[in-house]
Amino acid sequence: MNKDFLSIADLSTDEVLSLFNLASELKQKQKSGETHHILKGQTLGLIFLKPSTRTRISFEVGMFQLGGHALYLSPAEIGLGTRESIPDVARVLSRFVDGIMARLFGHQDIVDLAKWASIPVVNGLTDLLHPCQILGDMLTIMEHKNRYEGIHVAYVGDGNNICNSWINLAAKLPFKFTMAVPEGYEPDADILAYAKSAGKSEVAVYHSPQEAVRGADVIYTDVWASMGQEDESEARKRIFADYQVNDALFEHARKDAQFMHCLPAHRGDEVTDAIMDGQRSIVFDQAENRLHIQKAVLAQLMSKQ
Ligand code: CP
Ligand code: NVA
Repeated sequence: MNKDFLSIADLSTDEVLSLFNLASELKQKQKSGETHHILKGQTLGLIFLKPSTRTRISFEVGMFQLGGHALYLSPAEIGLGTRESIPDVARVLSRFVDGIMARLFGHQDIVDLAKWASIPVVNGLTDLLHPCQILGDMLTIMEHKNRYEGIHVAYVGDGNNICNSWINLAAKLPFKFTMAVPEGYEPDADILAYAKSAGKSEVAVYHSPQEAVRGADVIYTDVWASMGQEDESEARKRIFADYQVNDALFEHARKDAQFMHCLPAHRGDEVTDAIMDGQRSIVFDQAENRLHIQKAVLAQLMSKQ
């Protein structure tokens, strides 16, 4: 793998598949109580400029389980780009820790951080991408459906970081990815063009949720207003009102279709309680797999063995 993991676009198809294999192996070992110390004595710095539950916990626990240590650096600390420049922070951290996980706003900031750091940098979410999430999500689909090839994932909602990372994965693995987004909330045009030109998967953007989910194996949604867009929440509730994932929408998907959400969910907005808590929902399996896939990413990037 490259020094850093900033985007699924950085990976080859083989690298994606070997991350799934390693994650499954590490998951199985962890469940059977087998201990190992792939990253013994190593420290991962976690820079958060936005809140987090899953990402912080899974990286901290993951480093512990790999025999290393994680250092949480909250939004109130570091002052990335304000208290101290990104190149200076990158070079200072490179003298103390062995890897950096960062959750930032602008994607260019993590590109800059990685450029100036001499140690691996992992993207824990930017406004543009959330690559660790989507790798864990596809691992979850493979566990439930026993395959990825030909699986139809339909994403309903905002063309945001989650949606963009799904499109990046569609450039690496052959499946079908359809989206339903309101006009003006389309995913990143360059990422879409990249996936289409890769020619691996069928990728299509619709404005109608019913059309996008027709025949889908998985319906996936995310919040209508992402972190940093809180002041648009009320306006977005009106714009996205027809994009709720509910029982009526599932009528258009396959009978055995499952529901996924990266979480946190805004119940009653993008998804109903009945869907979140129903038989179709695999959202908590999905949350757990963040731990296993990220351990695989960290092991690949940081292991000196
Ligand atoms: N899905 C996800 O990244 O969750 P957090 O924002 O809680 O880390
Ligand atoms: N799109 C959401 C994802 C949260 C995991 C956000 O950026 O807030």
